[in-house]
Amino acid sequence: MRALSYEGPYKVKVARKPDPGIEHPNDIILKVTRAAICGSDLHLLHGYVPDTRVGCTFGHEFTGVVEETGSSVTTLRKGDRVVVPFNISCGSCFYCQRGLSGNCENTNPNSDIASGVFGYSHSTGGYEGGQAEYVRVPFADVGPMKIPDDMHEEEVLFLSDIFPTGYQAAEMGEIKGGETVVIFGAGPVGLFTAKSAWLLGAGRVLVVDHLDYRLDFARRFAGVETVNFKDVGAKNIVLHLKEMFSGRGPDVCVDAVGMEAEGSKMHSALGLHMNMEAGAATAIAWCIDTVRKGGNVSIIGVYGPPWNLVPVGNAMNKGLTLRMNQCNVRRYMPHLLKHIREGRVDARKVISHRFPLEKAPKAYEIFSDKSDGCIKCVLVPHGEA
Ligand SMILES: NC(=O)c1ccc[n+]([C@@H]2O[C@H](COP(=O)([O-])OP(=O)(O)OC[C@H]3O[C@@H](n4cnc5c(N)ncnc54)[C@H](O)[C@@H]3O)[C@@H](O)[C@H]2O)c1
Ligand SMILES: [Zn+2]
Ligand SMILES: [Zn+2]
Repeated sequence: MRALSYEGPYKVKVARKPDPGIEHPNDIILKVTRAAICGSDLHLLHGYVPDTRVGCTFGHEFTGVVEETGSSVTTLRKGDRVVVPFNISCGSCFYCQRGLSGNCENTNPNSDIASGVFGYSHSTGGYEGGQAEYVRVPFADVGPMKIPDDMHEEEVLFLSDIFPTGYQAAEMGEIKGGETVVIFGAGPVGLFTAKSAWLLGAGRVLVVDHLDYRLDFARRFAGVETVNFKDVGAKNIVLHLKEMFSGRGPDVCVDAVGMEAEGSKMHSALGLHMNMEAGAATAIAWCIDTVRKGGNVSIIGVYGPPWNLVPVGNAMNKGLTLRMNQCNVRRYMPHLLKHIREGRVDARKVISHRFPLEKAPKAYEIFSDKSDGCIKCVLVPHGEA
């Protein structure tokens, strides 16, 4: 089959690889119909995720048609269309029983920090990803959700990650009704966090980024206020936002940026160029300093292990609640499917580009460079893009 292949920092190509086969009775093989590229894939592409091996295939946001089932699979049959959560989870361990599928303790033999994840380096188990013609999906009775017959793949594709991720980010901010919310990052995750904040009843939602085209889109897609931190100056952004929220700051701040944040020379130098902290902790610091005393900080942007220059003294003295995690995708899928079906969220709107699989390197380039108005790229491995 043809599949994306990692060749080293900033280099991916499409290569021939052996077709995946059933390795365990609860596996299925999927013929991939759509595979999206995520901000998390950029951390891989840029070489910031430990143990990302040459030749591995990325891709943890995909839909597909069941091509083959292992002998113990009971819930799926050949021909079923499914959307698959990015976390690989066993469904029965201590964490899975508590809905924490992103913390499953049976699917990642390489670390006790996170569960297995499709196409996300050997530090999350070394599973092959879905930016390919075919992919093996383990624990097939646990993760995949059938796509309703009357729905298109693209309507549900983002239930694999970014919609549940945004929703969990808003939920970790403990939005219950009327809260003021500032979201750092107008990428796909920030956009779905904004939508979800409204769904949970937020009173005011503002998104911060430094890319005008993304802030324009955020206003259209999610009906939010926006601030470009380049316009006010990175040094002034915290005070500027506090001023906008009664001088105290908002009730909730969300970091939907992660380890490659821009805006602080110190964090970028130490975290990205010298590897002296695990990525730039700029957005976390802005969240902690912007939010009002006693407020909530929700960190959904991804950070590597384990050291960071996070202003914990500020967080402690302000009495903040800090919550963070990989998204536990599976538990949100049925509920968010309902929001899509009932027309409250049209997730397809974030797709700015579609490419055939062969053009995956180009798709990575424009998504990474944030060029050509790129919000989200989707690969179409079979048929017309
Ligand atoms: N926790 C999870 O389960 C989970 C799931 C999916 C993605 N993620 C993470 O969420 C983050 C965002 O993903 P995405 O797909 O939206 O990525 P993206 O790269 O498309 O978006 C990130 C945005 O942040 C902006 N930005 C950079 N520095 C900033 C700053 N200091 N303040 C405000 N905005 C800033 C960028 O301009 C960009 O628009 C990534 O770290 C990704 O790995 C986490
Ligand atoms: Zn993702
Ligand atoms: Zn488990």
